[in-house]
Order: sequence, then C-alpha cells, then structure tokens
Amino acid sequence: MSKTFTMDEREIPFVEGQTVMQAALADGVYVPHLCAHPEFKPHGSCRVCTVKVNGRHAASCTLAAREGLVVENQTAELRELRRELVQLLFVEGNHFCPSCEKSGDCKLQALGYELEVKTLHFTQLFPDRPVDASHPDLMLDFNRCILCELCVRASAEVDGRHVFALSGRGIDKHLIVNSESGRLADTSIAATDTAVSVCPVGVILKKGRGFRVPIGQRTYDAAPISAMPEGKKP
Ligand code: FES
Repeated sequence: MSKTFTMDEREIPFVEGQTVMQAALADGVYVPHLCAHPEFKPHGSCRVCTVKVNGRHAASCTLAAREGLVVENQTAELRELRRELVQLLFVEGNHFCPSCEKSGDCKLQALGYELEVKTLHFTQLFPDRPVDASHPDLMLDFNRCILCELCVRASAEVDGRHVFALSGRGIDKHLIVNSESGRLADTSIAATDTAVSVCPVGVILKKGRGFRVPIGQRTYDAAPISAMPEGKKP
C-alpha cells in the first residue's frame, strides 16, 4: 500500500523523497508555484506555494511528504496570502503586461489571473532597472525579474557557464550578469542555453522573434495555469 497524506480532505499518495508539492501535482492537484521547476532542486524563494500543514505555514516545494500530514491548499486564507505575494512581486518590478513579449506565456501573469489579482494593492516601487540589449541574439529586461534564480541555477548546473547571479540584499537584491563589463554580450551565453528558456517571466528574450506567436494563441490564453500541464509540473 502506498503512503499518503491528506490535502484538503483528499488522500494524496507519495513515494519516499517526494515533496508535498511534487506528490500533489503528480496526483493532479494544482499547487501554485513560481520558483519550483521539475529539473531543479526546490529553491523555496517565492513562497507562492505556501500551504498549511498541521496548522502551520510551510513552503510545499521544500517540505518532504510524510505519512499522516494534514495539508490545507485551496483555502480562502491561503489564496489571499498567495495573492498578496504575487501583488508584491508585481510592485517590486516594472511589469507592463500589454507590451511584454512574454504576455500569455508568463507564469507571473498567469498566476495573477489564477488568483484574481485585480489591483496591485501595494505602492509600486518603479525601480530603475536597465535593459541589456548588448548581445546579438538575446536581450535582458531586468524590470521583469522575480528573483526565482531559475536562470542562475540553469546556467550553472545545466549549461555550465555561470552567466547569472543575484547580488545585493533585501529590496536591493537583483539579477546580475557575470562578466567584467556586466554586459551579456561579454559572456559565453548561447541562445540555445537552458537558462534562456527557463525564465518564467519576460527577462530573457530571444531577439528577432517578437510576437511571432500572436496574443490570444499563447500558452495561458488557452486555459488557466491551474489547468495546464505546465501548471501540473513541480
Ligand atoms: Fe515553493 Fe517558490 S517557494 S515554488
């Protein structure tokens, strides 16, 4: 008999080594998430995957599944908490969805729709972030970065290039490029790198492909993120 825990009164089977999120997603239960990715170790930075376990908040992407856990996932309280986290991510950057090439394919935007974010609620910070268009094939728009570190992890662990890193602390934390000049053109990054394709928002974009897929025909135009295979992956 497989081991199980309870999520919103449903028995979720798991195998040893799975996290609560992995087990739930594998069983077809959507748990919102941004910084988790099936190819990388859980990171636990965005906290959008927060659930309540035996009455206490925990990040489901880093919490090991255990027999007998009682997990709350889709409650009004958690939905509100996740909505606030997404609102904070929106106000900490500069996200202008209607003009963004990633609109319709962006996980932050998709999660905004999923959680019915209708206003930003918090005061927008409008940080001054430059755009790096120095590379012939790629451009970086730091305004959209949510600090998930997926590009950092992908470039280091898969591509073996260490092109990206985070610098600074707290509200000053930001994505940087590892080259003496700080410009992307002076790194060894290639357009085929995993780091380029793994960005969940619109920071790393390929040049010469803008709006090749029309708005209305993109990933999350077809169905909300909770119903997409993409949303069902940890
Ligand atoms: Fe769990 Fe980001 S902290 S998905």
